[in-house]
Amino acid sequence: MALKLVRLAHSQARCWALCQTLTPVTAIKAKGLYYQSSHKYSSNSSSNEYNFRAKNGKLLILSFGIAGAAAVTWIIHHHFQDKNYQHVLAASSVPGQKRKDLPSYTMEEVGKNYSVENGGRVWVTYGVGVYDITPFIDQHPGGDKILLAAGGSVEPFWMLYGVHKEPNILAMLEKYRIGNISEEEARSATSNMEDPYALEPRRHPALKPSSMKPYNAEPPPSLLVDSFLSPSDLFYVRNHLPVPEVDPASYELEITGIGVKDVNLKLKDLEKYKNYTVTATIQCAGNRRSEMSKVKLVKGLNWGHCAIGNAEWSGPRLYDVLRAAGLKEGQPGVQHVQFEGLDTDPSNVPYGASIPIEKAMDPNGDVILATKMNGQPLSRDHGFPVRVIVPGVVGARNVKWLGKITVSGKESDSHWQQGDYKGFSPSVDWDTVDFSKSPAIQELPVISAICDPLDGESVTLVDGKLQVRGYAWSGGGREIIRVDLTVDKGKTWQVAEFTDKDSSKTPRHWGWTLWKADIPVKAKTGEEAKIWVKAVDSSYNTQPESFENIWNLRGVLSNAYHRIRVRPKEKRGK
Ligand code: MTE
Repeated sequence: MALKLVRLAHSQARCWALCQTLTPVTAIKAKGLYYQSSHKYSSNSSSNEYNFRAKNGKLLILSFGIAGAAAVTWIIHHHFQDKNYQHVLAASSVPGQKRKDLPSYTMEEVGKNYSVENGGRVWVTYGVGVYDITPFIDQHPGGDKILLAAGGSVEPFWMLYGVHKEPNILAMLEKYRIGNISEEEARSATSNMEDPYALEPRRHPALKPSSMKPYNAEPPPSLLVDSFLSPSDLFYVRNHLPVPEVDPASYELEITGIGVKDVNLKLKDLEKYKNYTVTATIQCAGNRRSEMSKVKLVKGLNWGHCAIGNAEWSGPRLYDVLRAAGLKEGQPGVQHVQFEGLDTDPSNVPYGASIPIEKAMDPNGDVILATKMNGQPLSRDHGFPVRVIVPGVVGARNVKWLGKITVSGKESDSHWQQGDYKGFSPSVDWDTVDFSKSPAIQELPVISAICDPLDGESVTLVDGKLQVRGYAWSGGGREIIRVDLTVDKGKTWQVAEFTDKDSSKTPRHWGWTLWKADIPVKAKTGEEAKIWVKAVDSSYNTQPESFENIWNLRGVLSNAYHRIRVRPKEKRGK
């Protein structure tokens, strides 16, 4: 760990120096981001050279930006209570603006404070402010990525993750203020930087973003349940990094690890395998987080109840591809299959996740290397050209823009497998959490939600009844066997009618169930009526009644009863 920190810190220091003096292309080279660019550009033409130069600024922003995101996460997660730093706390300073009471530094001096080794400090800048962030490095939930920002400006953080540029976060950063740099140097720290998200795909205007950079969005609830198969352009999007541009002609999927011979498969190689089509629902672990957050604030994107979608995915089975690479069932030493995306962070670390070998090599597990979604090539947002679909398993393991598969004795060591997407006791907070103590989420629990009408809507009753529509789903191939609704806080329940469901049998029932119910609403015009829903799966698991007892600091697995309130506005019919 210490060595890694030194390496990262040195690379940042070197990069800072390069960024100040050399062309951005050279700076990017120092960051080692050619990995991503190699998927974008072939090597032989001047237009490729032009393209590369056009992109390099974006990659530079990405480099700083992801580190920035990590730092921002870190800032949010901590309480800024380091006693040793009380002397630098300034009650009333404007974040990033000049403080006459503090000393001035040059960026060169800032850049020298990039490592905690040998008693060193870690400084960053924002605006003309200089900050010493040393006290929090060990607590950073994003691990040593924080050091990528060491000795440089944090300003690109806010360019990349605009959602975090909030007064409270800036105020918290300001508590670590130790000095000033000149305005000229502050400007040059962000010059040459372009938006790494400039080449993101166009999105359907109906999608409701919870963050723009990276792009994360969900469809409106009533559209979600209009069709059994969610249209690809209305399917929720969950991106952690900018969408990589992948050239299908040069795309290769690397397969390596225990018991397989190393192979690189092109798209045409994947096409030679038998094609399978699987109907599977994918759900983000944070779906319905905003409801849990009402109990007590949680950290994460404020998802509503539509970070879920159901599609037909087509491509070869992972089982067949691994068998062809030589993997035998029961191969000693093999425990997990790791996946890496082509979206990488500034230290060239890709998005990554893994699944247990039992799921990966189960011919009935239906894990596929999907090249198509609803009969069409995957869109860029959903993983073009290849993503792994792990039916019944949390969205985070369904790695998009798949670049590498490793058969391994251990789980992926990626942040998203080890330091996120895990559940904890409601009593665990950010001061006590130990991510190594909880297993990574794989199969998801049973969930349901009302999508029509919306919470708070004024509704029209027909013969005293209201039509309610929604979805229900359970992970692990478990089928929904019943959806119950109540309008009297659980005294009586009405069973919903299924309008569409996956025809596959448990335990290979991967798709969701759409349902509707005409429920009597006794509330008078203008009065409030409460409607609750819960689903039951084929293992007779049902949803918890409230969020209080399942609250967790990341707001994952948020599957308590879905409750809405509506007001009847008029009566029609007999
Ligand atoms: N794969 C890569 N390479 N990068 C990502 O950011 N996000 C994961 C998963 N696969 C992600 C990824 C998460 S958290 C989810 S919920 C799903 O993709 C979302 O898939 P979708 O955007 O197609 O709906």
